[in-house]
Amino acid sequence: MRTPAVVVNFKAYSEVDGPRSLDLALTCQKVAEETGVSIAVCPPMVELSHVARNVQIPVLSQHCDPRRPGSATGWVTPSMIAASSAKGTLLNHSEHRLMLIDIQDTVAMCRSQGLWSIVCTDSVASSGAVAFYSPDFVAVEPPELIGGDISVTDANPDVVRDAVDAVKKADPSVRLLCGAGVKAGKDVKAALELGAEGVLLASGVVKSKDPYQSLLDLVKLI
Ligand code: G3P
Repeated sequence: MRTPAVVVNFKAYSEVDGPRSLDLALTCQKVAEETGVSIAVCPPMVELSHVARNVQIPVLSQHCDPRRPGSATGWVTPSMIAASSAKGTLLNHSEHRLMLIDIQDTVAMCRSQGLWSIVCTDSVASSGAVAFYSPDFVAVEPPELIGGDISVTDANPDVVRDAVDAVKKADPSVRLLCGAGVKAGKDVKAALELGAEGVLLASGVVKSKDPYQSLLDLVKLI
């Protein structure tokens, strides 16, 4: 994924139920085309394949399990994500945590399927720890700021700066995203100035009355 990147997690908001996931993905694609900014979307699992087959921007799963095809009822395997035309997956989101050992296995399984992985973390220490597994990205998000109106870049800039250092120390090829409360262009600019290579965000776009304008505002200073 080209950086700086803006990754929009649709979560399970009712605003993206059913066909509205594709509508929002097409809006994100329109902004990507008009601005040239790298934008990826993470629709709910039940819409993943439909969205991935109908947009050109990268589509990522919100979660993946360390399971192989076969007897795995209800689990989400790397192989089914690859077959859906999605390009990769979030892992260990603060709303869908995995055990450390499962993160390691899932990153490796995703890599063998040609999928990108973005491992979410809640601290500098956990960012450094998961970077040893060499995912494509680590996304640091202090849980207490998620869904709020104060950006991590204002509330705790040190966590972004220090997570960049921790990740690069573990594996210089891993890129850091940050998220939580990112709602405006100035927040994205601050994230990049702190050393992040993009942002992971949700409510600022998904719950906006005008997602097109909100996303334009978010990317305007990149
Ligand atoms: O996955 C992104 C997320 O956890 C941040 O959410 O609503 O604070 O942008 P939000």
